Amino acid sequence: MSFLDTKPGVPLLESDDLVRHYEVSRGLGKPSAMVKALDGVSFTLEAKKTLAVVGESGCGKSTLGRQLTLIEKPSAGGLKINGEAVGDLSDKEAKLFRRTVQMIFQNPYGSLNPRKKVGQILGEPVLLNMDLGRKEREERVRETMAKVGLRPEFYGRYPHMFSGGQRQRIAIARALILEPKVIVADEPVSALDVSVQAQVLNLMMDLQEEMNVAYVFISHDLSVVRHIADDVMVMYLGRVAEKGPTEEIFAKPLHPYTRALLASAPKIDPAHRVKAEPLTGELPSPINPPSGCAFHKRCPFATDHCAQVRPELRMYEGREVACHRVEEIA
Ligand SMILES: Nc1ncnc2c1ncn2[C@@H]1O[C@H](COP(=O)(O)OP(=O)(O)OP(=O)(O)O)[C@@H](O)[C@H]1O
Ligand SMILES: [Mg+2]
Repeated sequence: MSFLDTKPGVPLLESDDLVRHYEVSRGLGKPSAMVKALDGVSFTLEAKKTLAVVGESGCGKSTLGRQLTLIEKPSAGGLKINGEAVGDLSDKEAKLFRRTVQMIFQNPYGSLNPRKKVGQILGEPVLLNMDLGRKEREERVRETMAKVGLRPEFYGRYPHMFSGGQRQRIAIARALILEPKVIVADEPVSALDVSVQAQVLNLMMDLQEEMNVAYVFISHDLSVVRHIADDVMVMYLGRVAEKGPTEEIFAKPLHPYTRALLASAPKIDPAHRVKAEPLTGELPSPINPPSGCAFHKRCPFATDHCAQVRPELRMYEGREVACHRVEEIA
C-alpha cells in the first residue's frame, strides 16, 4: 500500500462515518456509560484545500482530529488516504502515514519537549520516519526552520527560550518537516496573542501555497475560519449539522444551529452578522443525546417530528444540511 501516491479523481482524505465512543465510569456499582464524542462523521478533503471544523466546545472537534491522525483508534468507520483504506498499520505503513498526515496542537507550551533543543525536536521525526544521514537531516531541519521564519541560531535553543508565537512556529515546522499532504491543526492560534495570531495564520497560508498541504483546521473562531477556509463543516454533538463552501455558509447559513452560531459570534462584523436568534442553553451531554435531531431542544423551528426522527445529511442549495425544516427556513 502507498498513501503517498495520488490518484486522479480520488480525494486526498476521506472520512467515512467515523465514530469514537469513550467508556466512562459512573461510580462504584453503577454500569459504565458511553460518551458519544464522535458519532458518524463523513467528509472528503481535496489536496491543498482547507476544511474548517467548527462548533461549540464539546461537540467533538478534537476527537475527530485524534481519529484522523490515528492518535486514537476509531470505534467504527473508515479512513482513506489517496483512496487507500487505513486500518491496522505495520511499522512501515505507520511511517508512511506519518509522512502523509501530521498534527498541530493548540498549546505550543505543552506539545514541545522542554528538555530537547529545537534542532533535536525537529530532527526526531526525520530520524524516525525517513532514511537520511546526519548531515542531510540537519540540512532539512535548517531549511524547515527558515521556511517558518525561525532564525538559524535558534537551532540549539530550548523551547522555554521562545515566545508563544515562536513556539507555535516550531510546532508548525515539526509538522511540516516530513512534507505531509495533510495537517490537522487543532486550534493552532487560539492560545496566542491576537497580534501574533494573524502572523501565524498568514504563515500557515503561505506554507500551504509553497508546500501544497491541505489543512483540517479546527477552530471556534469564526472570523478566522472565514478568512482561511475553503469549506466549513459545522459539528453538533459528534455529528455534522451542515457542510459547504465557506462563502455560502457565511452568506446564508441554513441549519438553525449554524445560524445561531454565526449570530453569536463576537468577532463577526455586525453588518455581516446573521440575523437569527443567538444560541441559548447548553450543549446536551453526549452520554444521553436528545432523541431525534440533537439540536431540537434549543431550536426555534423544532416540531414534534424533529424531536422524534433524526435528520440525515442531505443536499440542499449546493451544500449538505441535516435539518427536516430547511426548505421552510431557507
Ligand atoms: N478520553 C475521553 N474520555 C471520555 N470522554 C471524552 C474523552 N475525550 C473527549 N471526551 C468527551 O467527548 C466530547 C467531545 O470532546 P472534544 O474534546 O472532542 O470536544 P471539542 O469540540 O474539541 O471541544 P473544545 O472546543 O472545548 O476543544 C466531550 O463531551 C468530552 O468530554
Ligand atoms: Mg478541542
